[in-house]
Amino acid sequence: MALPTHISTGMFDAAVAALRRGEAIGLPTETVYGLAADAGNADAVRSIFALKGRPADHPLIVHLADATQLAQWACAIPESALLLAEAFWPGPLTMILKKRSDLPSVVTGGQDSIGLRCPAHPVALAVLNAFGGGLAAPSGNRFGHVSPTTAQHVRDEFGAAVPIVLDGGDCEVGIESTIVDLSGTQPRLLRPGRISRAELEAVIGHIEAGANSESPRASGMLEKHYAPRTATQLLSRTQAIASAREQDALGKRVVLLALGALPEVCEGIALPADPAGYAHGLYAALRELDARHAHLIVIERPPSDDAWIAVLDRLRRSAAGAEQQEDDAT
Ligand code: TXA
Ligand code: MG
Repeated sequence: MALPTHISTGMFDAAVAALRRGEAIGLPTETVYGLAADAGNADAVRSIFALKGRPADHPLIVHLADATQLAQWACAIPESALLLAEAFWPGPLTMILKKRSDLPSVVTGGQDSIGLRCPAHPVALAVLNAFGGGLAAPSGNRFGHVSPTTAQHVRDEFGAAVPIVLDGGDCEVGIESTIVDLSGTQPRLLRPGRISRAELEAVIGHIEAGANSESPRASGMLEKHYAPRTATQLLSRTQAIASAREQDALGKRVVLLALGALPEVCEGIALPADPAGYAHGLYAALRELDARHAHLIVIERPPSDDAWIAVLDRLRRSAAGAEQQEDDAT
């Protein structure tokens, strides 16, 4: 498999050697960059939790080179999992399955289920193939913060603590994988993503929406997540412009994340008015707006139709609990 020209063989080999030594590296995927380490090495997995500042009971996704490795991690694999892997792997879909009981549970945060995904990025696949085993890789950001979609974002998060970050360019999808739970009695969508519930249902039939009280925990489901450090509000375009004017009159600076085009009176960034283009640019835009150190980030609310579900999910979490920002872990 051809690597991007800016990743030399030497860099690639150094990355795989670091993984073999149990170190974490920054790894590009088609969704967001991951902080990857050997999923079969408990100390390596613990170092991911420590680097991210992530509570030990929040499970990590294990990345695989292909679906033939499913049985190394999961047991009682339902037919639906094989059908979904066939239809969507490599790709932005994570499946929660029953974990093999002989595996350590540090990677699954103590749960008896495990998240598995085969990413569709040439660099991630090349690393997985060379490494040979599963790679635990949560998004490469500090806990609760905005996910990274460029190699520089990962460097900004961890600096010298993660010396190897493979640069695979901008992530194509831009938001995290769709998560479907197949470990219970009914398939359930735990996190919306580029692959929609309807697309999954076309392959395996009805899928329940959202988690219930028996669902495994998923940290992407916390109310405040994917959050910039600046206070953030989600408003209609009219409200957004009014809010910018009001704050301006109080001497407070507002930056706007606009849909389609930036209104003339506002400072900010405009993202494309289609869901895929918007998702692709979302996290880079949030990071850039955050770096402007304004008093407030106002996000113009996209339409509420099905095509925007995954984007809206991230936006609601970005804007949730902005007032308590300072007390929260990031
Ligand atoms: O697109 C993605 O999925 C990216 C890239 C790097 O692959 N990874 C990612 O990982 O978003 P992370 O750790 O930031 O989010 C993974 C989500 C979390 O919400 C976690 O709780 C959930 O997957 N998850 C993992 N294993 C699980 C399990 N056994 N049961 C329930 N949720 C699980
Ligand atoms: Mg994450």
